[in-house]
Amino acid sequence: MPTVLILGATSDIATAIAKKFAASQYNVQLAARSTEQLKPLQSDIQVRYNVECTFHNFDALAFASHAAFFNSLTTKPDATICVFGVMEDEDKALDDFESTHRMIDTNYTGAVSILNIVAKYYSSQKSGTIVGISSVAGERGRQSKLIYGSAKAAFSAYLDGLRNKFFKDNVHVVTVKPGFVYTKMTEELKLPAPLTAQPAEVADAVYTAVVKKKNTIYVKWMWKWIMLIIKNIPEFQFKKMNI
Ligand SMILES: NC(=O)c1ccc[n+]([C@@H]2O[C@H](COP(=O)([O-])OP(=O)(O)OC[C@H]3O[C@@H](n4cnc5c(N)ncnc54)[C@H](OP(=O)(O)O)[C@@H]3O)[C@@H](O)[C@H]2O)c1
Repeated sequence: MPTVLILGATSDIATAIAKKFAASQYNVQLAARSTEQLKPLQSDIQVRYNVECTFHNFDALAFASHAAFFNSLTTKPDATICVFGVMEDEDKALDDFESTHRMIDTNYTGAVSILNIVAKYYSSQKSGTIVGISSVAGERGRQSKLIYGSAKAAFSAYLDGLRNKFFKDNVHVVTVKPGFVYTKMTEELKLPAPLTAQPAEVADAVYTAVVKKKNTIYVKWMWKWIMLIIKNIPEFQFKKMNI
């Protein structure tokens, strides 16, 4: 039975992904900085889907621990899904470099730190799949997502590069740009229902992308066209817009 490793497993999207892969007969490794929170999900998965489910301590910001974390997994995962991320108040982040730094380091540096290790392992095995949950916010710099968007832009570029570098070694990399999703991260926001996905829809899309070896996916199809329009607005116009 294949195994999937989920990094940032306390997230709402990660929980849905864990259940989707378990329902598809994957053993599941849940990794998060608060393992206490993972116990109910672990029991639920074991009972409901009759697969192995383990949990592991993982902090995206503890870069120096990442190699030991991956080495400690007695079964190495066939697929690794990087879900963790933070989105903080952008206006506050401009005045508070700690917040800016946390967004950059969680969404980008931490992801690169662990995925470099995983990618090297998969390359040596000539097999493996990496999925990164990035964002449409990384497709064009905007005032409302100044720091978060730039960190996700870097993450998307990294995933593209990783796919290109390790393709010859049979390592597949999927970039996921979910658009809006109803989760803890967005619970304060008023989101437009037709453009907003449930975590289970993200999980279905991720699973299909892994099976079909897709490169980059949007969860709701409209986002591809919305972003195409946004990317094509001339800069002289775009800089005057409040988005
Ligand atoms: N919701 C959306 O509309 C949306 C849209 C596009 C992309 N995304 C991306 O989707 C991913 C999942 O987010 P979500 O919407 O499911 O929100 P969420 O429920 O708030 O999940 C964020 C997760 O990141 C984890 N995390 C934060 N810092 C961490 C660290 N240092 N080490 C390990 N884990 C850490 C959190 O763990 P704790 O429980 O320990 O805090 C939490 O599980 C993120 O990468 C986000 O940027 C979300």
